[in-house]
Amino acid sequence: MSSLIPQKLRQALRRNSIMHGAYMRLKRRFTSQLVGMTSKAEQDFCTRYGREIYSGEGDVVDLGCWLGSTTITLARGLSENNAFVRAGRTVHAYDLFVWSDWMNESLAGTGISGRFAEGESFLAEFERRSARYSEHIEPHAGDLTKIRWNGGPIEFLLVDAMKNWDLTNAIIHDFYPYLIPGKSLVMHQDFAFWLVPWIHVLQWRLRDHFEIYDDIQGSTSLVFKLTSPIPVELLTEKYSYKRFSRQDLNSAYEYFLDRVSPAKRPNVAAAKVLWFLDQNDVSEAGKVLNDLIQQGIPLTDEMLAAREMLESRKSAAEDLVDRVL
Ligand SMILES: C[S@@+](CC[C@H](N)C(=O)[O-])C[C@H]1O[C@@H](n2cnc3c(N)ncnc32)[C@H](O)[C@@H]1O
Repeated sequence: MSSLIPQKLRQALRRNSIMHGAYMRLKRRFTSQLVGMTSKAEQDFCTRYGREIYSGEGDVVDLGCWLGSTTITLARGLSENNAFVRAGRTVHAYDLFVWSDWMNESLAGTGISGRFAEGESFLAEFERRSARYSEHIEPHAGDLTKIRWNGGPIEFLLVDAMKNWDLTNAIIHDFYPYLIPGKSLVMHQDFAFWLVPWIHVLQWRLRDHFEIYDDIQGSTSLVFKLTSPIPVELLTEKYSYKRFSRQDLNSAYEYFLDRVSPAKRPNVAAAKVLWFLDQNDVSEAGKVLNDLIQQGIPLTDEMLAAREMLESRKSAAEDLVDRVL
């Protein structure tokens, strides 16, 4: 989220849905930010990439496009880029296109709040919103753990669908092999988001083949450039918690906490706490949280969410012990 107004005021606004809706409407009108889970900075990056950087060597793929905030902005820039238009390529937009109630949170101030029921398709809404660029966009509705890529080179891969190990493995096995060394960008929209620790350890495992290309300020996105071919064994491995030692985990977080901008640090650090919470190791999660604070990670943003989840897990465990004894 970009910060046109201070974080505390934004949090207060969010608690009042009418005020929050009015604020979001005004903000979108003045900044022309599209409805989505992306900030204006991310949307601007997509347009600038499409217009100025894309070279025509491969396709553009958007994984987890939802209502198209990144698909549309990519297509907007690409439609002004001769290399894209001449090559007759399209932006491939992947999603289940099936509504979940948690998505309503990101609809403040839009005319579609409450329109979709859980489980309903929103593909038509995606198509309506992206209609202006429809000749440049191909939606792919389906589950990324089953759907396959067509096998052509991918010049730009936007990832906002590595929500669990299965999806992570599917994306690594089905899309990463088609990235072009020395050329392709991978934009991880969830990099500064704490509920997806597999993204950090994976990008660390692949660190010899990627460099950080852009740390988009005012957003959760980190953009990588593929610098050299990824060995096939790293592209076919089935990744899971068990595939990473404690030393790997420490190295991965040390590596990225040293490299991301200060604003992203608390959220990336909080993901290391989640690594243990997700495996029900509350005691280790507590130690990691304390170590991170000792190392100077501020107790802000998602570090606060990590502490809150830790405390609630601890009290749930204590309740259970009380009930058993
Ligand atoms: C955080 S939202 C994407 C938000 C979007 N990138 C934006 O910024 O507006 C994650 C998206 O991943 C999609 N998704 C989740 N699981 C999926 C799966 N197994 N296959 C395809 N898409 C999936 C969801 O439907 C959802 O639209």
